[in-house]
Amino acid sequence: MIRLQLFGLATVAAVVLCSSPAHATGDKKNGRSLVYTCNGCHGVPGSSNAYPQYPVPKIAGQNEQYLLDALHAYKAGQRAHPTMTAQAQSLSDQEIEDIAAYLSSLAPAAPKDSDAQVKKAKDLLTQSDAGKLASKCVSCHGNDGTGTAPQFPRLAGQYNEYIQHVVHEYQNGERDNPIMKPQVSNLSPDDIKQLADYFSTLPTQLEKPDELSTLKGHVQGD
Ligand code: HEC
Ligand code: HEC
Repeated sequence: MIRLQLFGLATVAAVVLCSSPAHATGDKKNGRSLVYTCNGCHGVPGSSNAYPQYPVPKIAGQNEQYLLDALHAYKAGQRAHPTMTAQAQSLSDQEIEDIAAYLSSLAPAAPKDSDAQVKKAKDLLTQSDAGKLASKCVSCHGNDGTGTAPQFPRLAGQYNEYIQHVVHEYQNGERDNPIMKPQVSNLSPDDIKQLADYFSTLPTQLEKPDELSTLKGHVQGD
C-alpha cells in the first residue's frame, strides 16, 4: 500500500516535470489571428497616435523578448499608454506569448554582407556625423539596427518620428527606463533627428512588404 502510494507520487512528480517546459513557446498561428485586432492601428502605414501626434510604431518583425516585455509593461501599467494598456489587459499571458512568437517570426532575413546597401550603412556608421552618434547605440541596437539580443528593440526601419518622440520621452522621463535614460540624456534635438534619420533608413526593414500588404488587405476588408 505504502509502496503503491510512493509510486503514485513519483508518477505525479514525473508528469509535473514533463509538463512544465523551461520556456513556454507561443503558438504563431493563434498569434496571427489575434493580431488582426491590432492591425487597425499597427498595420496601416501612417496611422497616428492622436495627442500627442506621432506614428503608431511598426511591430511586425520586432524582436520577441522586447515584444513580451513591452506588452507586459503596458499590462502592468509600467509603460503608460491608456489604449495599449487596455489592449494588453484584454490578453492572457499565453496570448501575449502567441502574438510575440508570430510578430517576431515576420523578421526579414538579415541582408547579405555583399549587399551594397549594407556597405553603405557601414560606411555611414564610421564616416557620417549621424553614424558617429549612433556608434554609442550599436552595442545594444546592433550595427544593422536589428538588436544584438532579443530584449533590445529593432530600430532599423522604424518610423523616424516615432524614434524621435521616444528619445524625447526617455529624456524627460515620460517613458521611464533606467537603461535608456543615460544613453540619451546629453543629446540635442538636432542629434536626435540625425539618429532617427540614421536608424529609420537602415536597410533592414521591420516588416516584409508582402506581409504588410496582407495585413493591409485585412484592414481594408478585402
Ligand atoms: C487604437 C490603436 C492601437 C491598437 C488597436 C493597438 N495598438 Fe499597440 N500601440 C499603439 C500606439 C499609439 C503605441 C505607442 C504607445 C507608446 O508611445 O508607448 C503602441 C505600441 C505598441 C507596442 C510597443 C512598440 C514599441 O516599439 O515599443 C506594442 C508591442 C504594441 N503596441 C502591440 C499591440 C498589439 C499586440 C495590439 C493588439 C492586441 C495592439 N498593439 C493594438 C496603438 C494601438
Ligand atoms: C545598453 C543598451 C542600450 C544602448 C547602448 C542603447 N539602448 Fe536604446 N534601448 C535599450 C533597451 C533595453 C530598450 C527598451 C527600453 C524600454 O522598454 O523602454 C531601448 C529602447 C530604445 C528605443 C525605443 C524603441 C521602441 O520601439 O519603442 C529607442 C528609440 C532607442 N532605444 C534608441 C537608442 C539610441 C538612439 C541609442 C544611442 C544614443 C540607444 N538607444 C542606446 C537598450 C539600449
